[in-house]
Amino acid sequence: MKGILLAGGTGTRLYPLTLATSKQLLPIYDKPMVYYPLSTLMLAGIRDIMIISTPQDLPQFQRLLGDGGQFGLRIEYRVQAAPNGIPQAFLIAEDWLAGSPCALALGDNLIFADRLSTMLQQAATQDQGATVFAYQVRDPERYGVVTFDANGKATEIIEKPASPTSSWAVVGLYFYDSRVLDFVRTLRPSARGELEITDLNRAYLEDGSLRVQQLCRGCAWLDAGMPSSLLEASQFVHTIQTRQGMLVGSPSEIAFRMGYITARQLEEHALRMGKTELGHILLSLARQQEL
Ligand code: G1P
Repeated sequence: MKGILLAGGTGTRLYPLTLATSKQLLPIYDKPMVYYPLSTLMLAGIRDIMIISTPQDLPQFQRLLGDGGQFGLRIEYRVQAAPNGIPQAFLIAEDWLAGSPCALALGDNLIFADRLSTMLQQAATQDQGATVFAYQVRDPERYGVVTFDANGKATEIIEKPASPTSSWAVVGLYFYDSRVLDFVRTLRPSARGELEITDLNRAYLEDGSLRVQQLCRGCAWLDAGMPSSLLEASQFVHTIQTRQGMLVGSPSEIAFRMGYITARQLEEHALRMGKTELGHILLSLARQQEL
């Protein structure tokens, strides 16, 4: 399975923070935001990743992540010239996908959960249908919202409903089978003039092949689209890292744990981070393994 990481948009809800830089490069505590969805794709076992961003921001992502080799990945880059909606990413990546199933991660979403990699790898190995995740929130009207029947089966999915009939928001991480482009081609722009990811998910729902997996209450799903949510996400990562000494959203750590890079390479990463907390944690991980 291949993975697309969509890091476009103008980030207007974060102005003036995003007047001169991409939202997905803003810090979440001690790392650029894009590290978190990149880590999510890596935990799903995906190593072929395309990053899609605006013409002005794409070079910054290239500077940060290069060809992905440092993390044992193969990263490609493409431009989304105009914000025509999330599913446009599949059209932009069509030749690169070459009929492969594909995951899509939104660049401002952070997911933290126990046994996350098992759950994601299960989704990534399904070769029929689509898998999305739902999370209970207090403000569902900000998101795609999914309604379930008494047996927990998804019945309806609506983008930013004015009066939500459920509190289950659809998370910005989607797994689709090789038919995704056939479905994307049936979509038409919504009232706001964009192709909607919720319409793509509804197409799979109507096809009877959408799996909606509910994330447990002990999981965290944060999006960092507004100043308050950016701060909450930073506080969350800070709390876990300083209390437990465990990293959240570190591609080098994941690359090491997945066996993509050696302890020696991890040590090099750690030393490049200098005297930071991140560098310190990576270094102790690398040296434990070298003993
Ligand atoms: C997008 C999707 C929405 C989803 C959300 C997750 O919304 O359209 O369905 O729930 O991402 O972050 P946006 O952030 O573009 O408003």
